[in-house]
Amino acid sequence: MAIITFPKDFRFGVSTASYQIEGAYNEDGRGMSIWDTYSRIPGKVRNGDNGNIACDSYHRMDEDIELLKELGVNTYRFSIAWPRIFPKGRGEVNQKGLDHYHRFVDKLIENGIEPLCTIYHWDLPQTLQDEGGWKNRQTIEAFVEYSELLFREFSGKIKSWLTINEPWCVAFLGYFVAEQAPGEANLQTALDVAHHLLLAHGRAVQRFKALGIPGEIGFAPNVTWYEPFSNRPEDIEACARISAWFMEWFCDPVFKGSYPQILVDWFAKKGAKVNIEEGDLEIISQPIDILGINYYNGTVSRHKEDHGTFDCEHLDNLFDKTDIGFTIYPDGFYKVLMDIKNKYGDVPIYITENGATYNQDPVDGRVRDDKRIHYLKQHLTQISRVLSSGMNLKGYCIWSLLDNYEWSYGYSMRFGLVHVDYQTLKRTKKDSFYWYSKLNQNYWFEM
Ligand code: BGC
Repeated sequence: MAIITFPKDFRFGVSTASYQIEGAYNEDGRGMSIWDTYSRIPGKVRNGDNGNIACDSYHRMDEDIELLKELGVNTYRFSIAWPRIFPKGRGEVNQKGLDHYHRFVDKLIENGIEPLCTIYHWDLPQTLQDEGGWKNRQTIEAFVEYSELLFREFSGKIKSWLTINEPWCVAFLGYFVAEQAPGEANLQTALDVAHHLLLAHGRAVQRFKALGIPGEIGFAPNVTWYEPFSNRPEDIEACARISAWFMEWFCDPVFKGSYPQILVDWFAKKGAKVNIEEGDLEIISQPIDILGINYYNGTVSRHKEDHGTFDCEHLDNLFDKTDIGFTIYPDGFYKVLMDIKNKYGDVPIYITENGATYNQDPVDGRVRDDKRIHYLKQHLTQISRVLSSGMNLKGYCIWSLLDNYEWSYGYSMRFGLVHVDYQTLKRTKKDSFYWYSKLNQNYWFEM
């Protein structure tokens, strides 16, 4: 047995997102989002599930905050639903939406839990989508209007902000792979959307700084580790390409003010390019205070001619997988974080998501999710390695507090430390909940 320890000022938390947990989709003036629309298109989401009710967290705020207290976390990462604040995306503000989040944030603070707020976790107001959504540069203006309102309203209450969650998913799953809303499949469109998301991020950061809002701001990309199968240059290059798709495509513009050449060249071969207007890269590369990193999986990959978009083949069967099919590769967590430090320096980092799906229901009132505990131990050990290596890592949030709406998988995939019965909405704490609460008290665990 080895004892894995964490510094006492380390922030432990859990993450959720509005559409995935709130429900109350048509209450208190909320407008429709692209996920309300997309989930209703037959065949897009498993079992035709939608977020109408989800975990009903909109009505169960007190119960969920009790869970956070018992878990003993000092940080809660959640997102605000844009269509609750601006039901039409811009213009008229819905006071009831603001009131809801004020009550919620006040309660977190009363209970000693620091809010870590994501401004955009994928629930774009449908009215903006009707005008082209993220394809349309005007959506950037609407995002800035929405962000500015949140900054002014919650100034002094929310001190840690993330502009956009996983822009890779929004752009490429939404507009290229067609696995998420709005479900288009065009590489050029995806590159335009990615660029607009980065601009929206940069503009919001500029506004945050100009307004002198106290606190820290950044964004939360998702990264994956691709270990080259061999040291042959073509394997190394194939891995560099696919890694860059997730990380450098979003982090280079933000930290360096340029797009990674390796992919600019690759996309050019596929007939697509970034449409950059004058001044765009200066806006995107505003200095940020924090970087959120979401990490779930990694794999070993090698070059294979004419294979997929990147001529890259993944040897996923080398690894155990969680129930959603994500490969389990804890070492990759350490490697990707050290890589970020090498490439982008010492920016303070929060792990804003890491976690595992295991689809278990309670048996005699108990969920014995040993596999989840093991996954968390494996990944938290990598966090401890990274901290010991002097990396500026401030906190770690598990995805997720609750089982919830897993996008195109609907309710079929359970990531929570707390089980949710979607018929009764009853919450049952899993074994992993008790394990994490112990870590939150002790700052160490046995591996
Ligand atoms: C997203 C979450 C999602 C999780 C698990 C991330 O892609 O930010 O909304 O539920 O990973 O797939």
